[in-house]
Amino acid sequence: MSFSQNPLKCAYPPSLPAWKALQTEAQQARTKTLKEYFSNSPSRTHELSYQLSSLSIDLSRHHIDQRIIGKLFDLADESYLTDAIRVLFSEQASNHTEGRAALHMALRGHVGPPDFIDAVQSCHEKMAAIVDALHQQHWLGYSGKAINTVINIGIGGSDLGPRCVYEALHPYHNPILSLKFVANIDPADLADTLSNSDPETTLFIIASKSFTTPETLSNALAARQWLQESAGTDTDISNHFIAITARTDRAQKFGINEDNILPLWDWVGGRFSLWSAIGLPIALATSFDIFKQLLAGAAEVDKHFSEAPLRENIPALLALLEIWYVNFWGCQSIAVLPYDHHLRLLPDHLQQLTMESNGKCVRRDGTPIDYNTAPVLWGSAGTIGQHSFHQMLHQGTQMIPVDFILPLSSHQPNQAQHAQMVANCLAQAQTLMEGLTSTEVANNLAAEGVDASTIEALTPHKVMPGNRPSTIITTAKLTPQSLGSLIALYEHKTFTASVILGINAFDQWGVELGKKAAASIYDALVNPGTPPANPATATAIDQYYQQHQ
Ligand code: F6P
Repeated sequence: MSFSQNPLKCAYPPSLPAWKALQTEAQQARTKTLKEYFSNSPSRTHELSYQLSSLSIDLSRHHIDQRIIGKLFDLADESYLTDAIRVLFSEQASNHTEGRAALHMALRGHVGPPDFIDAVQSCHEKMAAIVDALHQQHWLGYSGKAINTVINIGIGGSDLGPRCVYEALHPYHNPILSLKFVANIDPADLADTLSNSDPETTLFIIASKSFTTPETLSNALAARQWLQESAGTDTDISNHFIAITARTDRAQKFGINEDNILPLWDWVGGRFSLWSAIGLPIALATSFDIFKQLLAGAAEVDKHFSEAPLRENIPALLALLEIWYVNFWGCQSIAVLPYDHHLRLLPDHLQQLTMESNGKCVRRDGTPIDYNTAPVLWGSAGTIGQHSFHQMLHQGTQMIPVDFILPLSSHQPNQAQHAQMVANCLAQAQTLMEGLTSTEVANNLAAEGVDASTIEALTPHKVMPGNRPSTIITTAKLTPQSLGSLIALYEHKTFTASVILGINAFDQWGVELGKKAAASIYDALVNPGTPPANPATATAIDQYYQQHQ
């Protein structure tokens, strides 16, 4: 790994004229209601709705107008965003602390140098051949039976992305293979999955860019033991393993045949890798052609992001909107609420994408940061959240901007029930925006015949502040192509935010210390007599021993 010079120009945001101007804008904007924006501009919905690929993005329910948007794009200009996008799409080390390019776009479109494009093409050929062999039931296990179950063992970007897309494309699943995912080092995760799997017909994908991640290697070893115990110690079980990794040497040392190893490259970050061979489970569950449609949807957004005039750049606008709330309104989190059961894992994937990318406190030049960077990203499928945390969204003390994701038609025949889903999503966006004043509450209670003293006591509790902003991203239907566009939209939003904040979105040094500490604490657990320096940990370990005497 080699540190390289930072190829991006980095302004210090609070010193920028646009940053100062936005501070003034925010003071004024706080005095305006969302309703006022609409009354001042009847064409607001049309004016603030954008089309990108198969996505429609409605920003009308935000504390913005063209003046504020102009200042936000001034901030992008003063942050050298256009140049940063050019660097991202080049072979330069956008990930300078690891000396690597960040060219995940090359996985899904003709982007990057010819040798990258060739490498991706040959990887696709190998993926397609594996998909075909398994779908044709030509891939046999140690006892001669055709493989019918594939278990992906990976974690982080080697799990969350493929798992999210696998679930989202449920309507496109083929019945040939059963796909399962194991990620946690808790033995229960693998055990639960193996308990209803047949070793004779099960294939494991060991997905790990580094091939050193403890959770993945621990599960891979346990899986191999499970298989060997079933097959017998002298039986060759190598055909039950595929590896997806940038470290072929380590995979071969584990005992995986070179023919069963699919490549990953240093210029693909883990949280950006579902478009690579890491996405093999997606292709196995559906088809290689559907996987290519996913890639195509992302490539459309790449083209827009790299070519659109800055002030028409939609991923950039979404990033600027987040910075507007986080750095000028004091918002600490954003909620992503997919109103689609099969998209329920999208927040999990976007958590890693945004929080592992932009959860940083040091600028690209190594100087400490004295402004907010990534917000907490969280969420779950609607309408589930309406019966869980929406109370806080409506009447909590924090303003939490919401991204609603809403396919407008369902793969399911019950269209009436899907219309209820749509109605709930729109109702949440509307009530977050409008709220309910004390006068409206009192009038409603009076109309219900509630007595005056109860009205006086109850009204404050029923007032809804409103003015809570939301984005609604719709698509006609959740397809491989629209899903690819949606995820790529968030990838480029994340990168844009990192540029304006002056941080490296592509490294993750913050996870190293915990890994090292876990290794030394594990040693203390299994080798009594070597107490750790930390007194709290030492006490916890004593309690662990007491439980296991
Ligand atoms: O969380 C740290 C991390 O390195 C992620 O960035 C990555 O996606 C995950 O662990 C798994 O890494 P690997 O694919 O190398 O096993």
